[in-house]
Amino acid sequence: MASLTASATAHPNIAFIKYWGNRDAELRLPSNGSISMNLDSLFTHTRVKFDPGVDEDRLSLNGQEQDGVALQRVSKLLDRVRKMAYLRTFAVVDSENNFPTGAGIASSASAFAALSVAASKAAGLELSESELSRLARTGSGSACRSIPSGFVEWRAAERDRDSFAFSIALPEHWDLVDCIAIISSEHKTTGSSDGHALASSSPVQSMRVADAPRRIDICRKAILERDFDALAQMVEQDCHIMHAVMMTSTPPLLYWQPATLGVMQKVLTWRAEGLAVCYTIDAGANVHVLCPAPLLETVVQMLKQVEGVKQIFAAHPGGAVQIGD
Ligand code: DP6
Repeated sequence: MASLTASATAHPNIAFIKYWGNRDAELRLPSNGSISMNLDSLFTHTRVKFDPGVDEDRLSLNGQEQDGVALQRVSKLLDRVRKMAYLRTFAVVDSENNFPTGAGIASSASAFAALSVAASKAAGLELSESELSRLARTGSGSACRSIPSGFVEWRAAERDRDSFAFSIALPEHWDLVDCIAIISSEHKTTGSSDGHALASSSPVQSMRVADAPRRIDICRKAILERDFDALAQMVEQDCHIMHAVMMTSTPPLLYWQPATLGVMQKVLTWRAEGLAVCYTIDAGANVHVLCPAPLLETVVQMLKQVEGVKQIFAAHPGGAVQIGD
């Protein structure tokens, strides 16, 4: 008999080649493959208890009871776990992020990765890494990449059972750092889930998807060869192409703020001057500035001088999701 209680800890990840748009929104089967790096210093810790004493699922996030869409999304994932485990009990879920929720750092990847592992363990299921990745994917696409360790690839696949993420290199392979320049902590007007649904309204999306295998191959090779220049060019190009899709959707999505562009221009100047730095931006205004670890202090000091940068979080490559406290 399973203990019906388990916990797990997962890191968020930053995509070098982005996931934007689904071929199947319900299953979160992506329109294109993606590559990411887990972020070691940031994490979500989640405890799940299937409790016969409650008559509905409950979710608390950083000590605050949640309802509405956040709870519905969690319940939907719990339903999948209950179905697999032939369980009917509702669950009490307690989740905590070690980074401020309002900082503008996306937490759905680490949240659904930790939830999938804790919930399936609590339900007595013994799932493999790829099964956990597939489960996490149905909660939030990018969460499937927070299950395996280090540098991770998620292949575009037509069927549910083929769409999961796997490690292409462990964290020790390359000590890169993501310096996250926080520009805005405001809640996004259009979240990723709604944004994915708009991707196909952009005339740029079909070109973006068709060209994705080329960008993935170059990015994977750059990681395996620890070739920062090649990585920098591809990471920035992929970021620009995704934002081109966002900006040309109907309605258009423009996530950048003046300070976002300010950081982008500084990073390009620093690289032209010989510093190994590049940037990428998700569905928000914050800029992820990547550099080899020995440059961390220099880059943080330089970023602090850029107008509009409110706070900086630094993260090295992170490991796989962990079961337990
Ligand atoms: C721009 O995984 O957050 O960060 O599946 O709706 O939860 P949902 O979307 P999500 O999308 C991530 C979009 C992105 C790019 C990326 O991480 O690949």
